[in-house]
Amino acid sequence: MGVLIKNGTIVTALDQYVGDVLCRDGKITGIGRDLTASGDDEVIDASGQYVFPGGIDPHVHMELPFMGTVSADDFETGTAAGVAGGTTSIIDFVIPGRGDDYDEALRWWHEKADKAVADYAFHMAITWWGDDTAKVMRRCVQEEGINSFKTFMAYRGAIGVDDHELIQVMKTSKELGSLVTVHAEHGDMVVELQNSLFAAGHTEPKYHPMSRPAPVEGEATARAAMLARMTGQPLYVVHVTCEPSIDAIAKARAQGQTVYGETCPQYLLLDDSVYDKPDFEGAAYVMSPPIRPLGHQDKLWAALKAGVLQTVATDHCPFNQAKQKEMGKDDFRLIPNGAAGIEHRLSLMYTYGVLENRITLNEFVDLTSTRAAKIFGLYPRKGSITPGADADLVVFDPEATGTISAATHHHKVDRNIFEGFAVKGLASHVVCNGRVQYKNGKLDVEKGAGRYLRRSAS
Ligand code: URP
Ligand code: ZN
Ligand code: ZN
Repeated sequence: MGVLIKNGTIVTALDQYVGDVLCRDGKITGIGRDLTASGDDEVIDASGQYVFPGGIDPHVHMELPFMGTVSADDFETGTAAGVAGGTTSIIDFVIPGRGDDYDEALRWWHEKADKAVADYAFHMAITWWGDDTAKVMRRCVQEEGINSFKTFMAYRGAIGVDDHELIQVMKTSKELGSLVTVHAEHGDMVVELQNSLFAAGHTEPKYHPMSRPAPVEGEATARAAMLARMTGQPLYVVHVTCEPSIDAIAKARAQGQTVYGETCPQYLLLDDSVYDKPDFEGAAYVMSPPIRPLGHQDKLWAALKAGVLQTVATDHCPFNQAKQKEMGKDDFRLIPNGAAGIEHRLSLMYTYGVLENRITLNEFVDLTSTRAAKIFGLYPRKGSITPGADADLVVFDPEATGTISAATHHHKVDRNIFEGFAVKGLASHVVCNGRVQYKNGKLDVEKGAGRYLRRSAS
């Protein structure tokens, strides 16, 4: 049984045209006009709707043990929420604790991810450097299909690395032809600011952003870019939030370096007034880096438009207000960092990006799908609408409207940081691996149907 999508406006990162897309055996097998269905093909009338390649979210954390608890969506619920919003592939992060065995961590992530409903790949986080770490990295690239490594310049004493370790990761990655990704914040300065704020009696969520101001991120981004330059290593900066980081990336790119930047809808659409919410509600927005003061958002949109930043991910890492965020009720330093986002990325970027003329429709596809596939070695299997590509497709109704709410979302968490946001443009049908898994508001997913995606070094 196949799927035939009829009369949609097919949009890729480059093109836009009306046509039909035929999917058989999990692959796109035909694109054209007047394609005909055979007996048991499911036919979707996409007249008046867009057909996009399935969204790719290159930055998510399902079931992540972090800050004394575990992120609330597991691989099944998190990938299902993604499918409901048009995201058909994710890249999660294997994150061993400092000193933990990398192979063991990778095995555990595979075990957890076995229940994913949609396809997934992994980045490997290098959280400490030991005698065997270079060998681990080589095995990741040559045997495990992992071609990108994550480093945290923040979270000192936990999963963060120092500059010496970061340099080793970059030098080794350079030899392997892989990519280094970085969470850029000056880890020691964050700890210093956190502790002095707390010592002065400041315990509430609103002190979280004060402990991680924009220069703390900007300096680390510039430092990471400099280290990447010295080691000749391409760099991907995750969750860029502010002007100093954008400037550092733009400068590195202008010098001819391969430095990519990612941002997320929360940094484009929210400002730091969210931390002033009463009754500990600001805790829902505690993430790192934090939501920035007004002004940075326009700079981020401009950086997407100018190509200084190339991808929009979510950093999906939800924690319930009840029992989880509450761990930091008396101490903002203990609030688990992170929030949900995977379900609404496409609708938010369409509503507030395309409809507000900040990005074109082709740029929307590039930012939410195609570019991530290219950067992380999944293209053209993912992120494209071409014969032979995986049949991951989103039929997107530009007239459909909705209001985001924790009461209706598919994330397994009790808050939505976009609560009350109106969206225009929603997925009406989502096809994953050639099967319709979401249709007019109803999920029809299969636990464990997601496949592990091996990626090649670029
Ligand atoms: O606050 C965040 N971003 N939590 C998830 C871990 C990370 O730093 O990406
Ligand atoms: Zn991070
Ligand atoms: Zn993250």
